[in-house]
Amino acid sequence: MKIFVDTGDVAEVKQAAEWGILDGVTTNPTLIAKSGKGFKETVLKICELVPDGEISAEVVATDYDTMLKEATEISSWNPQIVVKVPLIEPGVRLVRTLSDRGVKTNVTLVFSVNQALLAAKAGATFISIFVGRVDDISGDGMEAVAESVQMVETYGYDSQILVASIRHPLHVVQAIGAGAHICTMPLKIMQMMFKHPLTDAGLKRFLEDWNNAGLNIFEKQPAGV
Ligand code: G3P
Repeated sequence: MKIFVDTGDVAEVKQAAEWGILDGVTTNPTLIAKSGKGFKETVLKICELVPDGEISAEVVATDYDTMLKEATEISSWNPQIVVKVPLIEPGVRLVRTLSDRGVKTNVTLVFSVNQALLAAKAGATFISIFVGRVDDISGDGMEAVAESVQMVETYGYDSQILVASIRHPLHVVQAIGAGAHICTMPLKIMQMMFKHPLTDAGLKRFLEDWNNAGLNIFEKQPAGV
């Protein structure tokens, strides 16, 4: 499964990229606005920090012609860019156009398998299913993920199911269980994934035992040994 970081903060992207496990970055208009920096400058900096990654950058118009202009502009900045498009009627039309032109797309604000089907049929590269926002209103956000993974596999669509709006590490566990292709998550959730109390306790014990024995990896061997 691919792991993306969901942020518009280049410092967070840098940190996640340094671990060597990052496959891409997703942004949205809210995250870019929160960064306090310009859209193009932020997206290009992210591309530089994750040179082999897929970087999603979203259009903000809601009519086809303007969406197409925005998509053409955004995708011209760097070949790594995946144009993020909301699941609305002109959005699906735009995904078909971009897909026919070989431009990668990420269809966002998807909450149901029916919406995912429309995106898959239009040739979406990624289909972003928001789980946390459904859980927030007492639904089961992961249901649409499992159904959509099955849908693309049953009918042989090329689209990859991307789990978004992740709120905690259990969402990642559930996404793995559902066979999702990608998880995008805030840096904080990635940091939480490292954590296990037995790792901490085990490491503490190893280091205590090592230090109590006075061992040193770089010790000099006595002459003649
Ligand atoms: O980037 C899309 C999605 O991950 C946003 O998540 O937390 O705003 O529901 P959230």
